[in-house]
Amino acid sequence: MGDAGRTVVDVPRIDKGLDNVYVKETSICFVDGVRGRLLYRGYDIRDLADHSSFEETAFLLLWGRLPNREELARIRADLGAARAVPPAVLASLRRMPKDAAPMDVLRTAVSLLGMHDGDRGDASPEANRRRAVRLLGSVATIVAAYHRIRSGARLVKPDPARAHADDFLRMVTGTRPGASQTRVMDVALILYADHSMNASTFAATVAASTLSDLTSTIVAAIAALKGPLHGGAIEAAFEALRFIGRPEAAEAYVLDVLGRHGKVFGFGHRVYKTYDPRALIFQRIAKELSEAAGDPDLYRVADVVQETVVRELRAKHIFPNVDFYSGLVFHYLGLPPDLATAIFAMSRTAGWAAHVIEYWEDNRILRPLDHYVGPTDALYVPLEDRS
Ligand code: ACO
Repeated sequence: MGDAGRTVVDVPRIDKGLDNVYVKETSICFVDGVRGRLLYRGYDIRDLADHSSFEETAFLLLWGRLPNREELARIRADLGAARAVPPAVLASLRRMPKDAAPMDVLRTAVSLLGMHDGDRGDASPEANRRRAVRLLGSVATIVAAYHRIRSGARLVKPDPARAHADDFLRMVTGTRPGASQTRVMDVALILYADHSMNASTFAATVAASTLSDLTSTIVAAIAALKGPLHGGAIEAAFEALRFIGRPEAAEAYVLDVLGRHGKVFGFGHRVYKTYDPRALIFQRIAKELSEAAGDPDLYRVADVVQETVVRELRAKHIFPNVDFYSGLVFHYLGLPPDLATAIFAMSRTAGWAAHVIEYWEDNRILRPLDHYVGPTDALYVPLEDRS
């Protein structure tokens, strides 16, 4: 029954949080929240983290299969070319407030990109896959360029010959990263590339369902990702580690937050009721990087926070999620904490686009209901008669 046919006396069951609502069938991503498994197109995330590259993973998500040599070379070249963003977008980055949040800058700049999209008229799946690759390239440059601009540093031009992770680190830091740093960045991008129907993917899907354009769906997704209950948790979790400072202070911090019925950021998940496999990979990398840097304190703080939260909240199935250790990894890579969520977006654009393109194969406008509980007989009082 459409909502026009409903009356206010119906009392529906409200699915707050939409926990058990399925909005589509998918062959992109599977999250097994009980066994702690994550698959992209059937491939285990641990295998992809061990063997794949971001370019290959993006191809896998968008085209549905692993690329052959030629296809891999092509997506790598296309991504490289797309890192050269339109000059008008770069010019607008220079005009943005220097203290703006990178996610606000990214949301605005991606919106601008949409107006510089050369083949705006073509909404075929193949055109949208190409558009997605262009967005992936541009987003990396926007994140890096805004950081350079706000720091008063010279912009570093993208180098289309380099791998995406390598070029991104170079564009942010201004120096050539080592092979191991590039590999860590690549793995981080692989781990963040998709995660089924999470809040930002759902936001993108809602926008897509009205037959809006791909770039607009990514803007909607970025808006949803920003919040601290979703991608914004990386920065919140990392700032908490810095605030705690010493491993000896970590247990008391957690007990204090929980005692006030607060949330410890980087923990809990709607789907995982065990360890998030991405958190375990990020944990291992953070440990290795902290040892290599001879700077283990923050890592040790994180471990005590983790032990305490898991001990205290195991009954509620609260475990570390992907955002708990990733902020530490970005820190050890020399990246500022407030870029973390924008880096997440830079990777997740692949997944968002894949889901939107899939949804369009069998589109139906998403239009849920809300249960009206307000008055039904309000009498309009002219302004001059109101007290
Ligand atoms: N710290 C302390 N308690 C928690 C946490 C946490 N991080 N997460 C959940 N809980 C508790 C809740 O208080 C609730 O307790 P109650 O039943 O006594 O009221 C119970 O566990 C269930 O949690 P909900 O918030 O109802 O779970 P929901 O599925 O709605 O939320 C969410 C999931 C938003 C991720 C939540 O766990 C949270 O707020 N975590 C902190 C933010 C965070 O890390 N977000 C990143 C998620 S991963 C990602 O987006 C990439």
